[in-house]
Amino acid sequence: MKFLITGAAGFIGSHCAERLLELGHSVIGVDNFSDYYSTDLKEKNAEGITSKGGEIKRLDLRTDDLSKSLSLDFDYIIHFAAQPGISQSSTFTDYFSNNVLATKYLVDFALKCKDLKLFVNIGTSSIYGLEATSSEETAPKPASYYGVTKLAAEQLVMQKSREKMMKACSLRLYSVIGPRERPEKMYTKLIDLGLKDEAFPLFEGSASHLRSFTYVGDIIDGIVSVIGKEKELDGEIVNLGTEVEHTTQEGINTVEKVLGKTIQIKTIPKRAGDQLRTKAIIDKAQRLLNYNPQTTLLESVRHQVDWYKKEIVNN
Ligand SMILES: NC(=O)c1ccc[n+]([C@@H]2O[C@H](COP(=O)([O-])OP(=O)(O)OC[C@H]3O[C@@H](n4cnc5c(N)ncnc54)[C@H](O)[C@@H]3O)[C@@H](O)[C@H]2O)c1
Repeated sequence: MKFLITGAAGFIGSHCAERLLELGHSVIGVDNFSDYYSTDLKEKNAEGITSKGGEIKRLDLRTDDLSKSLSLDFDYIIHFAAQPGISQSSTFTDYFSNNVLATKYLVDFALKCKDLKLFVNIGTSSIYGLEATSSEETAPKPASYYGVTKLAAEQLVMQKSREKMMKACSLRLYSVIGPRERPEKMYTKLIDLGLKDEAFPLFEGSASHLRSFTYVGDIIDGIVSVIGKEKELDGEIVNLGTEVEHTTQEGINTVEKVLGKTIQIKTIPKRAGDQLRTKAIIDKAQRLLNYNPQTTLLESVRHQVDWYKKEIVNN
């Protein structure tokens, strides 16, 4: 099968592209190598894909006719590209253009792909709002520009499914962790600062926040399990994450255990829009995708520390 993977040079997209190549599929990855974080990391991720036989196109999805740059013979499109996270350095325009406008142009392109079996949108638990603890039928109440624009992107995709113009689904991911996690996110930052004996900036009140920290390999298991299930998945929104919850403090303790040292903490002001609790309800994923994430927090952190020491510290 031929896959178009957007955001392929990013954290989760690069893992997905590599897994599909390992499964024997053909992969074209698209990424604009945005400088939201180190483009060196993205170059490294892209190299991993090309070394396994995939192709990477440097392309910005905010281009109104993507068919000038891409062929139309894709079987599946998996759409990871986005302005992710809640960050003060990202403007509303960044979120709107990379999440809403880019998705609109990608959907326009997808409608031209006559053999397309399924458009897989990558959504987020942030769509639910400050508490993401319920099933897919719950009314979304996003509490950040990120959540609002990811909801709009999801709806742009699902609209075309409702109009029977293409088959589409959206997978809402929960707090993905593991090797290649973005540098501004909790675990990569904890590992980086912990190894340097520098203080980790913890948002006030966030030590007790609860999260479904989900290993990236388990997320990719769920994503690739959509292959061949387009009839069952068309029009569906499906949560993907672990049902196991941990507090941020437990996450810090786990990194300390793996590094074998105490990490200094400095408290910084609260972050607006930060979710208080995420707990993935995955009955639907279990039913439709036989989804069963198993990697523990300790195993995930061990993998992430190994990656960080091998790929970042020693390079
Ligand atoms: N990381 C998480 O915990 C998490 C949780 C829930 C959902 N998600 C979703 O998963 C997806 C991937 O997230 P990630 O953490 O891997 O982020 P990432 O930033 O590592 O990857 C996104 C990639 O998209 C690219 N991109 C951004 N705008 C683009 C554009 N206009 N044209 C082409 N490429 C563009 C970026 O350069 C980047 O490489 C996003 O859609 C995000 O909303 C992530």
